[in-house]
Amino acid sequence: MRKLVAFNVRPDEVSFFHKYAEEKQIQIDLHSVALTPENMNLIDGYDGVSLLTSPVTREVLTGIKAAGIKYVATRSVGYDNIDLEAAKELGIHVSNAEYSPGSVAEFALMLILMSLRKTRAILRNSDLQDYTITGLHGRELKDTTVGVIGAGKIGATLIKYLSGFGCEILAYDPYENEEVKKYATYVSFDELVQRADVISLHLLLREETQHILNKKAFAKMKDGVILVNCARGELVDSEALIEALESGKVRAAALDVVEGDQPFFNKDKRLAPLPNRNMALLASFPNVTITPHIAFYTLGAVSEMVTCALDSLDEFYKTGKARKQII
Ligand code: COI
Repeated sequence: MRKLVAFNVRPDEVSFFHKYAEEKQIQIDLHSVALTPENMNLIDGYDGVSLLTSPVTREVLTGIKAAGIKYVATRSVGYDNIDLEAAKELGIHVSNAEYSPGSVAEFALMLILMSLRKTRAILRNSDLQDYTITGLHGRELKDTTVGVIGAGKIGATLIKYLSGFGCEILAYDPYENEEVKKYATYVSFDELVQRADVISLHLLLREETQHILNKKAFAKMKDGVILVNCARGELVDSEALIEALESGKVRAAALDVVEGDQPFFNKDKRLAPLPNRNMALLASFPNVTITPHIAFYTLGAVSEMVTCALDSLDEFYKTGKARKQII
């Protein structure tokens, strides 16, 4: 019988793993912890490994190879946590996941609307029984130009949803797509950052996209721009964003991810000092909404991300190739 092992498993994923194991008659053992150089013994005797967001370094990959495992499937779309160069050198195949792009697109749309309507301040005031409205006027989406950076599956879905609101939509992506062209105009990166009233990020984190929104990019933006990031925190230079918020260049930011969030997002840190000063500063702005990397989190998406990763391991095992193979 084939044996798979999964790490970083949340309680809400467990039933989907069990269902898959039963349907396919395979053994899948689950761990809530991350796979690290210290617990490599947990992968002995398995045919494939599934993980989620924890660092898959050269050291971890060397341990995976030493255990005779050739297949790693992440349950996320993003794979910036995996050292792909090392995996390639070590002959380890890696796949990413696909799940409903609407999960993230809807959340991004919600954050855009919340930012335009100053919802964080409204809710804070209401909690304090301050029911005044002066200063809390918003803007309608139809009166804005929205720039979507990264028009892959999630970005394209957001663009389609936005098309119902009557706003002008700009897209930046090196790969153009006919479906996107129905609703948006492809423009250069510079044109998008110069013209957009709202910017939403939907691209993968790579060496060339790290800090794609840096000091130079913020300087080009319109005064009073709104920024939404549901992709990866490292796409935005936090210090440049803080300066842009202080100067009023950025009117509001809604961040489902923040640079360096990995060690504490999805964990209860109420009693601990936040080990990220920029994040603490960002959280102190009344016009910044921070959510804990939760945009993907719908019941449907969780089921799909587990199934997709396990399907990839199954395909790798049977054919040596998987539909969502990265390398
Ligand atoms: C992804 O799929 O890349 C995400 O950001 C969500 C995941 C971390 C659960």
